[in-house]
Amino acid sequence: MEEIILRTNDLTKKYNNKTVVDCLSLEIKRGEIFGLLGPNGAGKSTTMNMICSIVKPSAGKVELFGKELRTNKKEVIRRIGYIPQELAIHGSLKAWENAELFISLYGIKGDKLKKAVNDSLEYVGLGDRRQEYAKHFSGGMKRRLNIACAIGHEPELLIFDEPTVGIDPQSRNFILEKIKESNRKGATVIYTSHYMEEVEAICTRIAIMDNGKVIACGTSSELKKMVNGSDDITLEEVFLTLTGKKLRDIEG
Ligand SMILES: Nc1ncnc2c1ncn2[C@@H]1O[C@H](COP(=O)(O)OP(=O)(O)OP(=O)(O)O)[C@@H](O)[C@H]1O
Ligand SMILES: [Mg+2]
Repeated sequence: MEEIILRTNDLTKKYNNKTVVDCLSLEIKRGEIFGLLGPNGAGKSTTMNMICSIVKPSAGKVELFGKELRTNKKEVIRRIGYIPQELAIHGSLKAWENAELFISLYGIKGDKLKKAVNDSLEYVGLGDRRQEYAKHFSGGMKRRLNIACAIGHEPELLIFDEPTVGIDPQSRNFILEKIKESNRKGATVIYTSHYMEEVEAICTRIAIMDNGKVIACGTSSELKKMVNGSDDITLEEVFLTLTGKKLRDIEG
């Protein structure tokens, strides 16, 4: 039987009586690269933040690795790597110091920590820039360092919230290749993006989210058939049909 890595049941978040995530029920299986697509304000980051226990749900629950998050937070959180939409690195620390700081938060120490810092910086292609201050890095390098900080404890579930925003195609491709590589090595991935072509290229299944709800979920071919009867349509057209919103409005 396929193992469910993440299950959300009627997950809901309200801010000042406004529902931003609305009774979300998702199931993600081990080995998937699951894409979450949606316009600005759809509730993607809020959903990710509830899954990582950064934001407290107003209602509903999250189960990770078969365990309820709320009552098993400490154990479950160590098995997740979260790459947030907002960069979470410190400019006044060197690249290796950033990696060490974040990886050590997972209780990794000594030689194991040194190796994890080296391996994760190598992994994102920053091995030879380890002594440089993060504030001197380009946008793409900061994004890569952000990833290194979140993967050093070898998480089973990687959650990427728009990791390719504002960076050039070459760096974007590098990050996408790394996500696929992590997945080949066994990690399950949740991936949020506005770039349809990226989502289509790497994701095994895609959920389209709007106004806090998942309005469609399936493989890209299933989504196309749902909208068009055949898969002779682009994912962008599917998105437009379902949400009434154009990609350029989204990328604004
Ligand atoms: N801390 C907060 N307090 C009040 N409202 C919030 C808070 N965090 C998010 N929201 C609101 O919740 C809604 C969903 O925001 P969220 O960041 O989850 O969207 P998103 O789908 O990630 O959008 P984007 O594509 O722009 O990143 C927005 O209307 C946002 O203003
Ligand atoms: Mg977001």
